[in-house]
Amino acid sequence: MALSLAKVLVVADGPGVMLHTAPLLLALSGAGYDASVAVSASAGIFATPFSPSMLTGHAAVAWPPTEEGALDDTKVILVAPCSSAFFRELAEGAAVRFPEKAKLLVAPAVLPADDVEETWLEFERMGRGRWAVIRPFGSRLELGALGELRTASPEQCVEAVKRSLIRQTMAGKRVLVTAGPTAEDADPVRYVTNRSTGRMGVALACAAARRGAEVTLVHGPMSWPVPNVPNIIPVPVRSASQMHEAVMAKVMAQDVAILCAAVADYTPVTYSDVKIKKGHEATFGLLLKRTPDILASVGKLPNRPFLVGFAAESDHVEANAQGKLTGKNCDMICANDVTEAGSGFAVGTNRVTVFMRDGGIERLLQMSKDDVARKILVLIEIRLHGQDGS
Ligand code: CTP
Repeated sequence: MALSLAKVLVVADGPGVMLHTAPLLLALSGAGYDASVAVSASAGIFATPFSPSMLTGHAAVAWPPTEEGALDDTKVILVAPCSSAFFRELAEGAAVRFPEKAKLLVAPAVLPADDVEETWLEFERMGRGRWAVIRPFGSRLELGALGELRTASPEQCVEAVKRSLIRQTMAGKRVLVTAGPTAEDADPVRYVTNRSTGRMGVALACAAARRGAEVTLVHGPMSWPVPNVPNIIPVPVRSASQMHEAVMAKVMAQDVAILCAAVADYTPVTYSDVKIKKGHEATFGLLLKRTPDILASVGKLPNRPFLVGFAAESDHVEANAQGKLTGKNCDMICANDVTEAGSGFAVGTNRVTVFMRDGGIERLLQMSKDDVARKILVLIEIRLHGQDGS
């Protein structure tokens, strides 16, 4: 039997139930939560409780619940989408007595004309101390003849659920993460790159953001999506030298820098403005020159932030990783063997060994990149708190 993380009750309200509820339930179950649904009277006009029941394995109930103690073991109550009328009821305290221990998250659905900063600030003001508001940040719901609503996407809602259940131990900290490959252009159509998708770096950025950190994600052209998460600021770049410039401009304002990008070590010596045409020779040589080593540059800065590097190795993993730890003056190096199945580029898992400046070694088992990211964040926090004595 699969273990689920926590009970999450989705309260669906208004016409948004037609398009929003099913993907939200699937996303919650996919993330490991035990989701169930309560359908408000206004949502009941647009959907029967049958389809959400089928997706969750729990009978959908009507909102508000009538049975005493029905919400007792619910960890998160997520009102999504939440119509303006429902929101007013919540604000007036008329609706239901929510269990003290449950986190209450509300994703208001507003008309496009109301999707302005003042509306969201007002929602947040009204909810202060009672519920957290999930903003849509560009996400919209097209309801055909009924028009358009602006409400947080299912992915944004799941992100908010995750965050609500994690202690905000990095609140007030600034974390810079580099992710993905870099692309080194040779001409308008060709470039040199590598197999990195950016998934490990994105997992680290999300893990830090979920703990409350303000994250700057400097990333190359990734095939893994940049998450639409409020406290992750994406800084897209293309080449190693652009990544170097972006990191050096921002790194001294950070508490932690995690340089996870697979930076190209070499770039074409010259860039041709026009497409290079093939010649008659059977071979073609592209002359490359070294790129700046970003990790080593940060390692040399006086008063630099806590510095974490990665080491992608195919052999002599431990010796190479220890060499990078001292050679690039890091506090921590996370090493993985890219030749091992389930550990390296373009897979969902990784097996990482973490080498620490103080001599500590943490050998993690093979696990999902999200879990690896969480473990690395915990190790960083232990060192950080040790450093400032708190
Ligand atoms: N790195 C960097 N800038 C570079 C090359 C690497 O910042 N130009 C960083 C990576 O982000 C990673 C660490 O250095 O944190 C190690 O990268 P890796 O590719 O494993 O090793 P290299 O230092 O490039 O050495 P080699 O390719 O010879 O193993």
